[in-house]
Amino acid sequence: VAADAARLNATALFATHFPARAFASHKGTFGSLAVVGGDTGMCGAPILAARAALHTGAGKIHVGFVGEGAPPYDPPYPELMLHPSGSLGFEAVDAIAIGCGMGTGAAAASSLERALACDAPLLIDADALNLLAREKVLADSLAARGATGASHAAQARPCVLTPHPLEAARLMGCDAATIQRNRLSAARSLAARFRAIIVLKGAGTVVASPDGRAAINPTGNAALATGGTGDVLGGIIGALLAQGLPGYEAALAGVYLHGLAAETLTAAGRGPAGLAAGELASTVRELLNRS
Ligand code: APR
Ligand code: MG
Repeated sequence: VAADAARLNATALFATHFPARAFASHKGTFGSLAVVGGDTGMCGAPILAARAALHTGAGKIHVGFVGEGAPPYDPPYPELMLHPSGSLGFEAVDAIAIGCGMGTGAAAASSLERALACDAPLLIDADALNLLAREKVLADSLAARGATGASHAAQARPCVLTPHPLEAARLMGCDAATIQRNRLSAARSLAARFRAIIVLKGAGTVVASPDGRAAINPTGNAALATGGTGDVLGGIIGALLAQGLPGYEAALAGVYLHGLAAETLTAAGRGPAGLAAGELASTVRELLNRS
């Protein structure tokens, strides 16, 4: 019963916050997203995130690769604009999703530093989280960013962190077992410490805000236990931020849709075994257009 109530609340919350497509809208209405990551040999991660962002309705999507050897375009999705080796500027974007497959080298750290200095809403995942755990100056810059702005409920520059338990442990300076023993309290302490929305991933994903709000996502299943599903989640939440959803609502709606897409594919006989992370995106699109 509790799970059903949480599910209904999440649906209602999503329906009230997701912008309807007005007849006279244009691509600028739905925001421009920069997906930043992809060290040499890890170009697939930001591409998965960018494809998911496209199917979550963002108006324009740029992919900024940090490393060498990036493809010139993504053949099945030529709509994506790919930028090689740190050449993407963040001036004209409405949101930034940074970290997937990014590595933790000097180019990655400098991209993260530039992103933290921007006013755009940020989604921080994977190696960008590992950099925050390692470099105190970056962590301080993130906490300072969250401290500006009127209130946490309407953060002027919302920031969403999406750690899995090991990434959360690195951020907290403990081990993953300690995080898993009390996931709700771990997510809450990280939210307070970094003044950011925390999405603590894994079965029963916890979303916690520095203003004290917290929720456990009721959707999702073990079909998601495969490489790349976290990158897809980053793209979904990034697209919702680009479309203007506040940080907490973008995080809740994103994890809800991501989990529901896995349930939908499983019910259709395409899970729980053998799901390819990239398959989630087109189902997220169908779910979005259902209401
Ligand atoms: N039930 C529900 N959800 C699940 C389950 C499960 N049993 N297992 C996984 N998930 C969900 C998580 O909640 C999360 O949204 O799948 C996603 C997995 O995300 P990640 O752990 O980030 O996995 P991945 O996409 O492979 O990460 C890519 O980034 O974080 C680094 O080290 C990581 O190299 C890896 C890369
Ligand atoms: Mg990940």
